[in-house]
Amino acid sequence: MRTFTNVKDLGDLNQAVKEALEIKKNRFAYKNLGENKTLLMVFFNSSLRTRLSTQKAGMNLGMNTIVLDINQGAWKLETERGVIMDGDKTEHILEAIPVMGSYCDIIGLRAFAKYENKEDDYTEKILNQFIKYSGKPVFSMEAATGHPLQAFADLITIEEYKKKERPKVVMTWAPHPKALPQAVPNSFADFMNEANVDFVITHPKGYELDEKFVRGAKIEYDQKKALEKADFVYAKNWAAYTDPNYGQILSKDRSWTINTEKMSLTDNGYFMHCLPVRRNMIVTDEVIESPQSIVVQEAANREISAQTILKRMLENL
Ligand code: CP
Repeated sequence: MRTFTNVKDLGDLNQAVKEALEIKKNRFAYKNLGENKTLLMVFFNSSLRTRLSTQKAGMNLGMNTIVLDINQGAWKLETERGVIMDGDKTEHILEAIPVMGSYCDIIGLRAFAKYENKEDDYTEKILNQFIKYSGKPVFSMEAATGHPLQAFADLITIEEYKKKERPKVVMTWAPHPKALPQAVPNSFADFMNEANVDFVITHPKGYELDEKFVRGAKIEYDQKKALEKADFVYAKNWAAYTDPNYGQILSKDRSWTINTEKMSLTDNGYFMHCLPVRRNMIVTDEVIESPQSIVVQEAANREISAQTILKRMLENL
């Protein structure tokens, strides 16, 4: 594996989940695979889970890990070619990327959508420059349009908790005070569309996601109807994707918050969220603290999803 940016990079998805669950049984089984290999994790944005779980995954495989926070201690990077660099940006990304690549064997990158230019975001301008110019395998630790490590961990969690062969999985928009990226819902849809699940998306009108990820999945605008008999409720906020509202908040309607009444419509369903979560905006205290909430178990599986990707990349070096 040279890149991990979407579900297709995993090949056979059932096989990938099986491999992840095997790793979970003994996460130190490949502790020599990464000997004398270096993982560089580059963050343009903040993180708790991705930072810790990916570093831990590398350590489980015997790798050395380096973390670079671009906005804390590194030079400010210019990302546009042709710019006269007479402003506050000290270094161009076209030198910085191959230099970073020279110090490591594998690169993980976090670079969120900026919501300044839809084309730049949806062509994954930063991520693709790392893939093109680093000379090293690159995986997304949440880029502009996708968060595949999260979606893979979500699928592993669903596999562990499902009580039926083909569970009903509902991804629901929920309100948030800030304009959040579409990366998590895009990747969740990308993965659910390839998994053996009955997948339904519910959101207010105007929050339609890119068809590249939705791929004809069922959209139900009535949230309560969507939640009926659900086995998994995956809540997430995202800003508008469609023009002319790209990157904007169209609603903060708290009637979309997941509460006990909504969960009672499900088939004793589990509550999931990628975290961090705004309580009593996305989900009530009661629901997230209930036995049906599996958000911590889901976050714990981030270590397993990252380790599966790193293992495959190490095996292919
Ligand atoms: N879910 C997730 O990626 O968490 P962090 O932003 O804390 O890494």
